[in-house]
Amino acid sequence: MPAKAEQLPPRTVDSVPELRALARSTGKYLRAGASAAGVDRDLARIFADDLAQLADAPLGERFPGETDVRALAFAPRVLGRPAAPGLEDLTRAARAAFGLVRWSEFYAEDDWSRDFLPSFANGEGIGPDGRLRHDRIILGLFLLGPETRYPAHAHPAEEFYIVLAGTPAFQVGADSEFVARPPGSIILHPADVSHAIRSGDEPFFGVFGWRGKIAAPSWYRDDMRDPAAPLRFPTIRKT
Ligand SMILES: [Fe+2]
Repeated sequence: MPAKAEQLPPRTVDSVPELRALARSTGKYLRAGASAAGVDRDLARIFADDLAQLADAPLGERFPGETDVRALAFAPRVLGRPAAPGLEDLTRAARAAFGLVRWSEFYAEDDWSRDFLPSFANGEGIGPDGRLRHDRIILGLFLLGPETRYPAHAHPAEEFYIVLAGTPAFQVGADSEFVARPPGSIILHPADVSHAIRSGDEPFFGVFGWRGKIAAPSWYRDDMRDPAAPLRFPTIRKT
């Protein structure tokens, strides 16, 4: 099955009306400010004219090889709010790294991933596929849109999450209840233990890490409580 990104029509600037609005607002500001002291009137007007044209021009947005990570549309909602008490330093570091991790939807679309993939963003900062390479440890950022369920799965690698924003509910163990975890929570997933995440009405933004058998694939069963059910493996997106 082709990756979801290949099925999407090429985006144009119409899909990001904020940029048209920015062009329009900036042009107006420059035009109004062109008569102010110290402003190069002619140049300001040239810019204003250019921006007015931009606001209505058909602009292609996509670059060859660009990967859509649809959940990054939620980034302003998690980056624009104050850090929770005690999370100031980590939040500052995560924000500074936000544009440097390699964001991806990670999974290709299949029956397991279809529902959550548009709200899923995995940003590997350090690791085999990270901006900085490491063969044994993965450190990254994680963003899950609101009202999204990242279904139960497990993996031989051990995993941690730290909640920076949102109050996701984590289920650790196939028979366990979901427990709401506010900002500051640390959630640890032992090797091959089933775990699932449900975000609330706010996006979940956090830091995650893997260690141990990080090259081994994630797996799931149709019923994670049934050890006799066959193992299944999510389809990983080819990068
Ligand atoms: Fe996991």
